[in-house]
Amino acid sequence: MKNFKKRADLQQYIAGLRAGGAVITFVPTMGALHRGHLSLIEQAKVLGDIVVCSIFVNPTQFNDPKDLEIYPRPILDDIQKLEAVGCDILFNPEVSEMYAGNEKWHLDIGELEGLLEGKFRPGHYQGVTQVVFKLFNVVKPDIALFGQKDYQQVLVIKRMIDLLSLPVKIEMCPISREEDGLAMSSRNIHLTPRDRQHALILSKTLNKVNQHFDPEKIDELKQLAEADITAEPGVALAYFEIADGDTLLPANKNTKSIVALVAAMVGKTRLIDNVIIR
Ligand code: PAJ
Repeated sequence: MKNFKKRADLQQYIAGLRAGGAVITFVPTMGALHRGHLSLIEQAKVLGDIVVCSIFVNPTQFNDPKDLEIYPRPILDDIQKLEAVGCDILFNPEVSEMYAGNEKWHLDIGELEGLLEGKFRPGHYQGVTQVVFKLFNVVKPDIALFGQKDYQQVLVIKRMIDLLSLPVKIEMCPISREEDGLAMSSRNIHLTPRDRQHALILSKTLNKVNQHFDPEKIDELKQLAEADITAEPGVALAYFEIADGDTLLPANKNTKSIVALVAAMVGKTRLIDNVIIR
C-alpha cells in the first residue's frame, strides 16, 4: 500500500493512474478501523480498480473538544488492517495539510444539516461537508463509499454533490454489526462492559420497530420505542425518529421511503444506529 501525507504527492500519483484509465474509488474515514470500515474497502475493490482510503480525524466536525481529544488513533494497526484487505493507497494528512488556518467558510446545504444529528451536534455537518469537499478535490474519485451507519451523513454528502454538481458517484454500504446486533463504531471501545450490554437496546428497539412496522401506527411505534430506550439503565435517549428516508422529516402513512434512526448516550459514549424500514 502506498502511503501519502501530502496532498500534492497524492494528486500527482493518482493523476498518473487515472490517465492509465483506472477507476478510482474512495473511502474516507477517521481511522480506528473496524470491520464496518473494511467492508467499505472491500466493496470499493469490487467497484473500481484503485482504492484510496483516507484516515483523518477532522477537527471541524467535532463540537465537543473532549470527544476530539479522546478519539482513538491507532494508526499502525489501521495500516495493517488496510494492507490485509488490499487497499491500494492511504492518505493520512496532518491537520495543517488540510486546513490553512482558522477557516470560517462552510457550505449551506439547507434543512438537512439542522435535523436529528445536526440539531444535537450543531456545526457537525458543516465540518463533514468541509472536509469531504476538500478530500474529493484532492482524490477526485469516480466513486466514494459511505456507510448506512451514518445515514444522515450519506444524505448530506449526496445533497452537497447535487448542489455543487460534483462528478462523484456515491455508494451507500450496509451496517456491519457485532454478533449481538451492536452496530460497529470506533467509539465502542469507550463502552464499559456494562455500557456494552445496555447499548444493545438501540439495535433491539430498531429491529422491533421494523418487525412491527405499520404505517397507520407510526406515532405509537415511536412512543413505544422511546419508552423502551428510556427505561434502559445507563442510556440517555437523544432522539428516536421514524423519518422520510430522503428528507429525514417525520414520516407519515403515505411516506414512500422510511428509515428509523436513533441516537443516545450510553454511559459517556454517544452512539447512533438506524434501520431502513422500506
Ligand atoms: P468514520 O466514522 O471513521 O466512518 C467512515 C465510514 O465508515 C463512514 O462512511 C461510516 O458510515 C462508515 N461506517 C462506520 N461504521 C460502520 C459500520 N458499522 N458499518 C458500515 N459502515 C460503517 O464518517 C466519518 O468517519 C467521517 O464523518 C468522514 C466521512 C470520514 C468525514 O470526516
